[in-house]
Amino acid sequence: MSHVMDAIVHRRSIRSYLDKPVSKEMIDQIIKAGFYAPSALECCSWHFVVVDDRKVINQLMEVHPYLQMAAEAPCLIVLCNDSEENPRYWIDDSAAAAQNMLLAAYDLGLGSCWCAVHKTPERRTAFQQILNLPEHLIPFAAIVIGYPNESFDPPERVDQNRIYHNHYGQH
Ligand SMILES: Cc1cc2nc3c(=O)[nH]c(=O)nc-3n(C[C@H](O)[C@H](O)[C@H](O)COP(=O)(O)O)c2cc1C
Repeated sequence: MSHVMDAIVHRRSIRSYLDKPVSKEMIDQIIKAGFYAPSALECCSWHFVVVDDRKVINQLMEVHPYLQMAAEAPCLIVLCNDSEENPRYWIDDSAAAAQNMLLAAYDLGLGSCWCAVHKTPERRTAFQQILNLPEHLIPFAAIVIGYPNESFDPPERVDQNRIYHNHYGQH
């Protein structure tokens, strides 16, 4: 299996982390992977907020019911996008950047978990307030990062019944 394919298949959402800091170089690499994602019209309108202050992590956890794993993690990166600069494709571009970041984290031996933010209006507003984001900068997701304290075998995901040739229903 190629290196890239290995990361794609073996990356898992990690929700238990070791009490061990992640270096700035590693965080920089993960953010670099975000910046290198494909972007419609090459807008590249991402912004990244690295959060490693426990007080701020706790504030974010208080407004996000599915971010509990951040309690153990040394940091998270809030991936934001400028909806004014990129009104048409900011969601698509953000998703591409998020996946790149998860794969980069895996490549560095780190665990990660993509936690949705932008779809829930109260959550989005609360993140904007806590992080001092201007209104046009939308917090898309919190990417929790840390050394993994759990591992999982890849599930079987390929479903031949959902693959078609030329027309839906033709296998
Ligand atoms: C858009 C999106 C939002 C997600 N939000 C959360 C979340 O808020 N909390 C969480 O623990 N996991 C979240 N996840 C992770 C999924 O639960 C996870 O990807 C899924 O269970 C499949 O597991 P895997 O990532 O290990 O393949 C999210 C994933 C995506 C793509």
